[in-house]
Amino acid sequence: MTVHTDEDLPARVGGLSLEQKVRLLTGADSWSLHPEPAAGLRRLVVSDGPAGVRGETWDERDTSANVPSPTALAATWDEARIERLGGLLAAECRRKGVDVLLAPTVNLHRTPYGGRHFECLSEDPLLTGRIGVAYVRGLQDHGVGATVKHLVANDQETDRFTADVRVDERVLRELYLAPFEAIVRDGRVWAVMAAYNGVNGTTMTEHPLVRDVLKQEWGFDGVVVSDWFAARSLAAAGDGLLDLVMPGPTGPWGEALVAAVRAGEVPETAVDDKVLRVLRLAARVGALEGRPGTAEARAWPADEVAAELRATAAAGFVLARNEPTGGGDVPLLPLDRAALRRVAVLGPNAVVARTLGGGSATVFPPYTVSPLAGLRDALAPDVAVEHARGGRSSSRVPVVPRELLRRGDGGQGVQVRYLAADGTVLGTEERAAAAFTWMTTVGDGIPIERVAAVEVRTRLRADRDGTHQVGASGVGRFRVTVGGEVRLDTRLTLPRGADVVEGIARPPQETAPVLLAAGEEVDLVVRHEPAAAGTLGDAPAPLLSFQVNAELEADDDAELVEAVALARTADVAVVVVGTTEEVESEGFDRNSLALPGRQDELVRRVVAANPRTVVVVNAGAPVLLPWADDVPAVLLVWFPGQEFGNALSDVLLGVTEPGGRTPVTWPADEEGLPSPRPVDGRLSYDEGLFVGYRWYDAEGQRARYRFGHGLGYTTWEYVSAEVAGPGDDAVVTVRVRNTGARPGREVVRVYASGPDGAVERPERWLVGWAAVDAAPGAEVAATVAVPARALQYWDPSAHRWADEPGHFRLHAGPSSTFLPVDCGLDVRNPT
Ligand code: BGC
Repeated sequence: MTVHTDEDLPARVGGLSLEQKVRLLTGADSWSLHPEPAAGLRRLVVSDGPAGVRGETWDERDTSANVPSPTALAATWDEARIERLGGLLAAECRRKGVDVLLAPTVNLHRTPYGGRHFECLSEDPLLTGRIGVAYVRGLQDHGVGATVKHLVANDQETDRFTADVRVDERVLRELYLAPFEAIVRDGRVWAVMAAYNGVNGTTMTEHPLVRDVLKQEWGFDGVVVSDWFAARSLAAAGDGLLDLVMPGPTGPWGEALVAAVRAGEVPETAVDDKVLRVLRLAARVGALEGRPGTAEARAWPADEVAAELRATAAAGFVLARNEPTGGGDVPLLPLDRAALRRVAVLGPNAVVARTLGGGSATVFPPYTVSPLAGLRDALAPDVAVEHARGGRSSSRVPVVPRELLRRGDGGQGVQVRYLAADGTVLGTEERAAAAFTWMTTVGDGIPIERVAAVEVRTRLRADRDGTHQVGASGVGRFRVTVGGEVRLDTRLTLPRGADVVEGIARPPQETAPVLLAAGEEVDLVVRHEPAAAGTLGDAPAPLLSFQVNAELEADDDAELVEAVALARTADVAVVVVGTTEEVESEGFDRNSLALPGRQDELVRRVVAANPRTVVVVNAGAPVLLPWADDVPAVLLVWFPGQEFGNALSDVLLGVTEPGGRTPVTWPADEEGLPSPRPVDGRLSYDEGLFVGYRWYDAEGQRARYRFGHGLGYTTWEYVSAEVAGPGDDAVVTVRVRNTGARPGREVVRVYASGPDGAVERPERWLVGWAAVDAAPGAEVAATVAVPARALQYWDPSAHRWADEPGHFRLHAGPSSTFLPVDCGLDVRNPT
């Protein structure tokens, strides 16, 4: 295979022995590649995104700016903003010694049940591709590599290592591959991650699509890296297929690949091409001696990071509903600050805000601003801002908050001791929190395989009187001693067939009741013995992960009554509902879209007590909102990152416009939604092209919120749409007028329909968009480019993109169901 390069890189490859070359093709550990002095290559470090940069450890002391999760980013429809955010992430990478970020995730929202929905951008391939390109450009223009993942059809979690996705060629091209194509061709991404699953019978790390489509057809010249532990064979080392096995140092290649090359089973040129790609990536990120890298990241001071994340979160908030209350005609939002005396901030997510989703996307923010803290900061002391949880949303006992833990040295947190099988103390560590995940090593570089037990010691303080549930979560044996007395001695296991990530995000848990008085402190020791040294269940990974949990037993009925009472006496009730780590995470799919616990009941009872109720939905993916038409205001905030509460107060008080338009359809109920669960190992994408809004249009199905829906604080009139050629790409000019009383930003969307020929088409599909700003009363023009590709279809008989001659209509408007102006465009037979 030929790829364009200069002479330096092949010369460096040529200077290496076969063993040296093959060594470069499997990671050195979980997050890095082997250095190779003979090629001038230093250690190259990769790290997970996309909601921040976790770095090489999974440790609350190794913090990272927590940016809004991808659904929130796509909701901005703002490529310039996302590109800037990519620059911020590049700075985070450099600060943490990271060369390549394992992001963006551009699998599609095929079904809202998908566990990693929050981590993907949209149900629409064009929106996913364009926002993905912006994210990649922002990183790479600052000299840090991006890794678009997971190629392809990893749109759900159930049995993700083995599921064989059955999807037809046209659907694969037009939907699932399309974002990858955009990010390779337009975003010129430097790395692509091959998924765990198979597609049409072949697992993705060995799939010819990698060679024929990604590398040859699209001209991808970067590195194809396996998802972690996805590489299973030497077959993946074939010419033009996978380039890099992660993690290392063991894996299916190594000596077996050296032998296969010597035996003539794998051509050495195939190995050379892989090494060349690794060195090209290294050159791009500045990891090759004598080559400066493509660009430098600029440092971002903490206050600039905070301001950018605050504005970005607000730009993704979707104001889904905003009605007047009490017979007037002024919508409830924005709130009139001057008229406020008492605000009730209710709901389980008001204090324990979810700023990101679970699994590999987890990062440790330096701080998070909860909705309660954000509103207090904006309103107190003039306005009383009061809180009640209104019942639990999780059936788990949470990780003990660090404020309630005190170590022997007086600091907040716990002391950790690592023990060998013979009881020798291998090392100790002071940690600030009580949830732990280690990969490859623990503490100060202790090999994880040597650890037979981990012991956590701390003093637990009760902040209120009553029975507390105290215990642990993880896989293996746990002995929990409280005040010198063993309260639990148990063995916990994952359900059969569970994904290893479930062992991190939603580990099995056991607790015991302990009566404590407010202010009382007790010694707490949790001893954990993994099933086999250095393992999490039966996972192939050198992983250790567990939690220490404690919470006062709750009375949900009493909490609901308390919340309703607070609402009744307030000028306005802000109810923050949402999902939990049990619900939205990598490693498992959802089996219900309902809000967990009694949150629906909480909303209904609060709005009955106080009609001036705003419901804030803190979920990375759609949830059912059965009360949505009975409350005046609904704000969808996704997982908005560390500045959540500040962004929320800005939007509720009208300092900032809620800028978001939903990148995914919110279902009204669970009727007819695609399943994420394979049957006999196969998952058929039977809905074909009809994903998301395309399905709702085709079936005439009612949605809660249509794709693209989102209000601002002003109103718009669509005046006209005109299309202009010539050339391959069309340009639609849409004139809109701000008819409200505030300046605003409108995201003008253009959809195509037609041309009523023989080719099956969705009723309408997104072909472009542009945002405009306008002052009250002003009329402005949005210029929307519609690339020729957007009107083409993939012809499976010819295996190529084809024009369908005929008359297309281009409709413009604010959502996929409200498209008030349109214009026509004729596509002619190619001459
Ligand atoms: C995930 C990837 C991630 C990798 C490394 C895998 O389980 O699917 O998205 O980059 O782990 O953490």
